[in-house]
Amino acid sequence: MSFHSLLPRPRRVEYASGQLPLDIRTSVGGEPSVARWFRRHVGAATGLPLPLAAKPTIEFRIDPHINGHRLEISPDQALVTAQHTAAAHHAAQTLRQLLPPDAFRRAPIHDEPMSLPCGVIEDHPRFGWRGCHLDVARHFVAKREVLRFVDLLAMHKLNVLHLHLTDDQGWRIEVPQYPELTRIGSWRERSMIGRGEVPEFDRQPHGGYYTTEDLLEIVSYAAEHHITVVPEIDVPGHSQAAIAAYPELGTGGPVAVWDSWGVSERILAPRRTTVDFFRDVLDHVMSLFPSPVICLGGDEVPGATPAHGALLRRLMEHVHNHGRRTSAWDDATHLVSLPAETIVLSWQDAQAVSRAAEAGNDVLLCPETHFYLDHRQSDEPDEPVPVGFLNTLENVYAYEPPTERVLGLQAQVWTEQLDSPARIDYATFPRLCAFAEVAWSSERDPAEFHHRLAHHHLPRLDAFGVEYRPLDGPYPWQLRPGVEGRPR
Ligand code: ACM
Repeated sequence: MSFHSLLPRPRRVEYASGQLPLDIRTSVGGEPSVARWFRRHVGAATGLPLPLAAKPTIEFRIDPHINGHRLEISPDQALVTAQHTAAAHHAAQTLRQLLPPDAFRRAPIHDEPMSLPCGVIEDHPRFGWRGCHLDVARHFVAKREVLRFVDLLAMHKLNVLHLHLTDDQGWRIEVPQYPELTRIGSWRERSMIGRGEVPEFDRQPHGGYYTTEDLLEIVSYAAEHHITVVPEIDVPGHSQAAIAAYPELGTGGPVAVWDSWGVSERILAPRRTTVDFFRDVLDHVMSLFPSPVICLGGDEVPGATPAHGALLRRLMEHVHNHGRRTSAWDDATHLVSLPAETIVLSWQDAQAVSRAAEAGNDVLLCPETHFYLDHRQSDEPDEPVPVGFLNTLENVYAYEPPTERVLGLQAQVWTEQLDSPARIDYATFPRLCAFAEVAWSSERDPAEFHHRLAHHHLPRLDAFGVEYRPLDGPYPWQLRPGVEGRPR
């Protein structure tokens, strides 16, 4: 593959003639964790032993004076010089993209030799935070699928996985001190189908949760891919599953885990005991997730009072007292004045960016208009379960941040209407490819992107096994005839 097949598009490339063959003699070395990743993944796809060597064919060197990474491929060596381990990992991902799409398979399927094109690439990201949020609360996403999602984020040089672990419709994290959170809160009797004016329901219990060991594995696997997992415990709204498990957390008596989509009216009761409960939960969360940022939600709180704002702020301060920062959706700025350590996730409110900046808070851009990947991808009548705004691939790619003075960008995969890994693939790809280029690259060219995606990158996703939405519309088996959406 040539340098102009790369996605996201690199900053600077210099072509040279010749190829570096990958064969039985090819060795790997340098930064141990990146060398291990390369040997494991490219080794599986090529069937080559890729032995470690002190003077290797493919070498990952760290040099803190470099900005990002530099990759120099000659007919007898590929030398990566990288600012830090994460940058070396980005170069390893680039190297895999420079091989044929079969490099994205898990076993070799033919014996033809593979080679790398000669030349130089210099690259570094535009934004430091290139995130993707995954809602594992509305529909549980099994651990094996989360690990695969991590592979896909890393392939696109994204570096944050924001896990939305709790909501009205399910609580997904085991907390040993409060077993009812998962015994009761992790499943519901049935689920709403689609989003029609007249609600329809299935007759299928839905649920699941991650054990402590599952979460440690997810965090560790993500770290191997230089991805930080930011956990979200959403308070004081979006809390019906927790209230179902422990009714004393709410007001108004017992309630079941919610089976409908929307915003539940059942919010946390702003009492001292509620604060104590969630402090315990957050202590457990902080013991599992080394992330420097813990998300506390703070969005969509119907009937909120100043006491709810105070509850949110006390929980934020608890996290800050433990040396971490918090993040919250931009609605939280209306609940309470946020501590300076809190990062505002700007999703709905263009003014939130300037307001947060004035207040001294950092901002992450998560605009619903461009980065909500559950929103419908076309206006065609057969688009499956069309909800939200029209958000085409081109619309994602066209996003221009109102300011560069932000921590970065984040795509959101909400799963009310995504009830299987296939549906998540369909909604996420290829729009996340466009998002990745916006977050990584400074230069953009929509026509060239479209060509590169169609001819070079989608074959990689095919080889990896991603059920993306084809550029000319869904396959028949991706349709959801009869399931009503709710376009806006
Ligand atoms: C959100 O979409 N409620 C953050």
